Amino acid sequence: MNVLGIETSCDETAAAVVRDGREILSSVVASQVDLHARFGGVVPEIACRAHLEAIYPTIGEALARAGIALRDIDAIGVTTRPGLIGALLVGVSAAKALSFALDRPVVGVHHIEAHMIANRLGSPDLEPPYLSLVVSGGHTQLFRFEGAGRYELLGETLDDAAGEAFDKVAALLGLSYPGGPAIERAARAGDPKAIRFPRSMLGPDSLDFSFSGLKTAVLYHLKGRNTRKEPFAPAAPGLGERALADVAASFQEAIADVLVAKIRRAVKRTGLSRIALGGGVACNARLREKVEAAARRGGFRAFFPPPSLCTDNAAMVAALATENLRLGRDVGLDIEASAT
Ligand code: KG4
Ligand code: ZN
Repeated sequence: MNVLGIETSCDETAAAVVRDGREILSSVVASQVDLHARFGGVVPEIACRAHLEAIYPTIGEALARAGIALRDIDAIGVTTRPGLIGALLVGVSAAKALSFALDRPVVGVHHIEAHMIANRLGSPDLEPPYLSLVVSGGHTQLFRFEGAGRYELLGETLDDAAGEAFDKVAALLGLSYPGGPAIERAARAGDPKAIRFPRSMLGPDSLDFSFSGLKTAVLYHLKGRNTRKEPFAPAAPGLGERALADVAASFQEAIADVLVAKIRRAVKRTGLSRIALGGGVACNARLREKVEAAARRGGFRAFFPPPSLCTDNAAMVAALATENLRLGRDVGLDIEASAT
């Protein structure tokens, strides 16, 4: 079964063809990062217009790279939620149009759930149940994952998402958007122990996250206390290269320490011995290193998808759509885009 996946929930227009829910025949991502970079974040109206221009060429490219014709598509999967409503509508409308024209089923997909199963495309031996940590620009959530549609939310961020914290601290440091890769690059020359930034654990049993205090601590470190909180104005225009690298490395270390601590708690609490990471922040090499070290010490296994499956993509959408179709979940022209 060849499923065409479509993803337009945020700032990437993506299309992919996946065979039998496992084999990626093609995966194309048209990124809008350059359009949004000068605003320091995603501008919804710009995202919608860019999706509209990119959607059919991107689908065409995915079909061409997979070497299959539209009539050989057996179903169309599309992200229906959550995301920017105007952005979602572009993908959902395109998917419904194709479904109607080709007389093939259209299947709705939850974006976060797709991140939870992205790992299985890269690691065929990963079977549920497993823990899943989705750390992206919009989400930081820890789940017990049992299969498509069957999962339990164990903890989530009470304020900023981990990726959002990377993006905001990068802005403070005058680094480019998106902030995660920029901070990771800057941190390579820095000392992760140079500054002891706070690690918010929210009590001894909590599996929730909070990163806004960490972001404020970086701001205070850069500008001194009692300063006005203007997260998007660079706070450190004159900071030397070495000092900037130390802040980046110390901040990255604090985020990684919190994520590792919560993973260890979740392993202990659930007795599950496998954790799959997903979302853009899971690209971070220092995080990978620390999670892998904790896994070796704690006797559990950590799975990281390749970076192309960590960040937003349509292969994970096609994979989950295949499962949903088997289960009869979210199938048919009455699926609807929803921001939440
Ligand atoms: O999953 P994703 O592509 O889109 C969302 O659904 O949000 O994640 C994007 C987020 C951004 O906040 C970006 O700064 C962060 O992931 N990110 C990283 C890295 N690469 C991307 N954060 C830390 N280290 C990275 N290498
Ligand atoms: Zn995402």
